[in-house]
Amino acid sequence: MKNYCQHGRISTYDHCCHVAALSYSINKKLHLGGDVRTILTGAMLHDFYLYDWHADDGGTHNWHGYIHAGRALKNAQTYFSIDKKTQEVIRCHMWPLNLFSIPKSREAWIVCAADKWVSLQETLFMRRKKT
Ligand SMILES: [Fe+2]
Ligand SMILES: [Fe+2]
Repeated sequence: MKNYCQHGRISTYDHCCHVAALSYSINKKLHLGGDVRTILTGAMLHDFYLYDWHADDGGTHNWHGYIHAGRALKNAQTYFSIDKKTQEVIRCHMWPLNLFSIPKSREAWIVCAADKWVSLQETLFMRRKKT
């Protein structure tokens, strides 16, 4: 994940760290009572799709926004033993783009919201330096 670009100059690994940190803060500061282990594990694996979506691969990355949550979930299940609640965090993090994958737990809602905010920040303020 450290080798793949997420937004601007941010790697997928750093992006997931940012989402995990913000998700933790939201849960704690707003006293939401979400399960911390589920939030942090889900946040760290929510973009565990393991490719650079900017790379030219003949067009399949055009659908990245729609398909990568499923790919991340499949990889997470392959490499880690994760429970149903964590699986839902990963599967639903792209709502509302993935319209029918509506978050159903507070942990999934927290990570979904944190991902939106972090992605906006990274896209607007952490652009790649011009060469
Ligand atoms: Fe994502
Ligand atoms: Fe993300």
